Amino acid sequence: MRIGILGSGLMGGKLGTLWARAGHDVMFSYARSADKLRALAAEAGNNARAGTPAEAAKDADALLLAVHWLRVDDVLKQTGNLSGKVLLTCSLPMDEANTRLVIGTTTSGAEELANKVQTAKVVSAFNTVPSEVFFGVYEARRKAKRPSLVYCGDDANSKKVAAELIRDVGFEPVDAGPLNIARYTEPLALLMGQLAYRGTEGPELAYRLERYPE
Ligand SMILES: NC(=O)c1ccc[n+]([C@@H]2O[C@H](COP(=O)([O-])OP(=O)(O)OC[C@H]3O[C@@H](n4cnc5c(N)ncnc54)[C@H](OP(=O)(O)O)[C@@H]3O)[C@@H](O)[C@H]2O)c1
Repeated sequence: MRIGILGSGLMGGKLGTLWARAGHDVMFSYARSADKLRALAAEAGNNARAGTPAEAAKDADALLLAVHWLRVDDVLKQTGNLSGKVLLTCSLPMDEANTRLVIGTTTSGAEELANKVQTAKVVSAFNTVPSEVFFGVYEARRKAKRPSLVYCGDDANSKKVAAELIRDVGFEPVDAGPLNIARYTEPLALLMGQLAYRGTEGPELAYRLERYPE
């Protein structure tokens, strides 16, 4: 797939690198310096390039939105037309200090985003694990028991794309339902952050969902 990264920080930088290593064509965009984007692309290998948000979106099969909530409007403005595009979002609707969700219970950041870009196909994914786990999970991807990663969205084809991209970085995708389930997954992301950064296990914390045996 051709994947455009909108926001090339901790989340976008790591996921873009792993997708490039997994064989996808990746374009990193949206950082404070073009040098950083070029360095990220060089580090990620032959499948990766640096560009503007508009270039990243132009021929993309999927886009990852990975910016602070306060930067969403700016990056969308620079990206331009997203009509029909698969837009994976890991961006959480956090306040400026990153201490609390500014949206919740009756709607979610993912639904607000879908309202902003009504012609795009929004899927919420990747926000329920800290970025520190991505490389370790990717390295262990051939193991039988992979960590789970919940995702949700309203468009079946976009969810297939999301599931494939989740698998490609080493997680087992768990379809949590329609986009409004992000009302539950976004607070789950805060719980995971709480456990990862303030608990005793350090930031390398993923999770696995299991069914009880029959
Ligand atoms: N980090 C996590 O573990 C984690 C986990 C779950 C969900 N999330 C969510 O994922 C989203 C991204 O988080 P993150 O940790 O990846 O954030 P981040 O490291 O701060 O990355 C944000 C990106 O936006 C760029 N940016 C910020 N201001 C800009 C500006 N004025 N012009 C151009 N580019 C600008 C940054 O540029 P620079 O690279 O130059 O700084 C960076 O590349 C957030 O919504 C967060 O809530 C993060």
